[in-house]
Amino acid sequence: MSDNSRDLVDLGNQLNSPNYGPAPVVFDRGSGVWLTDTDGNRYLDFLAGIAVCSLGHAHPRLTDALHDQVDRLLHVSNMFFTGEQIALMDRLCARSFADRAFLCNSGTEANEAAFKLARRYQSRVKNHPSKSTILSMKSSFHGRTLASITATGQPKYHDGFEPLAPGFDYVPFNDVDALKERFDDDICAVIVEPVQGEGGVRPADPEFLETLRGLCDDYDALLIFDEVQTGVGRTGRLFAYQHFDVAPDIMTLAKGLGGGVPVGATLATEEVWQGFQRGSHASTFGGNPLASRAGAVVLDVIDDEDLLKNAAQRGRQLRQGLHKLAEEFDCITDVRGMGLLVGAQCIDKQHATDLVALARRQGLLINSAGGDTLRFVPPLVVTDDDVEDALHRLRQALEDL
Ligand SMILES: Cc1ncc(COP(=O)(O)O)c(C=O)c1O
Repeated sequence: MSDNSRDLVDLGNQLNSPNYGPAPVVFDRGSGVWLTDTDGNRYLDFLAGIAVCSLGHAHPRLTDALHDQVDRLLHVSNMFFTGEQIALMDRLCARSFADRAFLCNSGTEANEAAFKLARRYQSRVKNHPSKSTILSMKSSFHGRTLASITATGQPKYHDGFEPLAPGFDYVPFNDVDALKERFDDDICAVIVEPVQGEGGVRPADPEFLETLRGLCDDYDALLIFDEVQTGVGRTGRLFAYQHFDVAPDIMTLAKGLGGGVPVGATLATEEVWQGFQRGSHASTFGGNPLASRAGAVVLDVIDDEDLLKNAAQRGRQLRQGLHKLAEEFDCITDVRGMGLLVGAQCIDKQHATDLVALARRQGLLINSAGGDTLRFVPPLVVTDDDVEDALHRLRQALEDL
């Protein structure tokens, strides 16, 4: 590492809030699936800003649109419309079960809106204020604001932040019997990830989601799909719920929606949106024209470049390659995922941590999720050759272990 880069890392470590522990790399620019650091080293980016850079880095259509938008209009507030905001909401509603959208800036913010909407729907529209419990899954992840960490079914994220938000409860993921056992009239809504991402890349069983939908209908509870990580093409469908015979009442999005520009969205049916009236909720930056333009362009490029098909095919190729590596290297014990949300479970957390660092030394960026699982979430534009290249670099990392 050059002296200049070392100085930058040292200064960053002095100034950064202590909740992050970045690797000693300073990135400078990106192009497609590649990132370049301040010393000119290139990395194959199979992390994509944790499933954010859906079109890769510096995609010309996104870059050109953002340049144009910066020249024209950045912000006006939600007291007015912009064409960009309407275009994004239109695309999201036309392509999903939803009738209306609330635009915001992050996944946790989209989930907060979903919880508030569900509670207001039950208390004001259905006149059931006691129907207030939000049920979530163990090992889930829903964000870092207070209600979202409370919904997150992993005690390590709660530690020291008590008292948590009241009115949340948990059931084991994919456990139909436990779900049936817990369901009752107090349930306001259930939030679930169609594939648990941070929890270790664990897809939901179709039977579990179908049972959940049936129970929500029977008990008049709302079903919230947190598609912050799975949405916007990541799993090979525009939204992961479209793989299942189940549609939610509310869906949350963020991450890949803006392709790197912060955009979140809470989508719901007309019936459920009756829970909000003017003034019930807001976000200053939500739906600003720059962010909305990014979201609309990402959705258009996904269509124009057939990226759903690419995500499905490249995901299959990646999983097949990982299965082959698992046959050769005992430290990989399982390969899971949907589309380009792929996990390779290691025998323990230490192996996963070491492999992430060794892969980086080989010029491959990945991370670990759920402690012991390597997570691969490359841009949706990744090619056949990129996947082979990544598998080759991972093999070298496995040999170095
Ligand atoms: C499923 C899911 N929900 C919510 C979030 C929180 O999103 P954000 O970090 O944008 O608040 C994440 C982030 O990893 C996520 O994976």
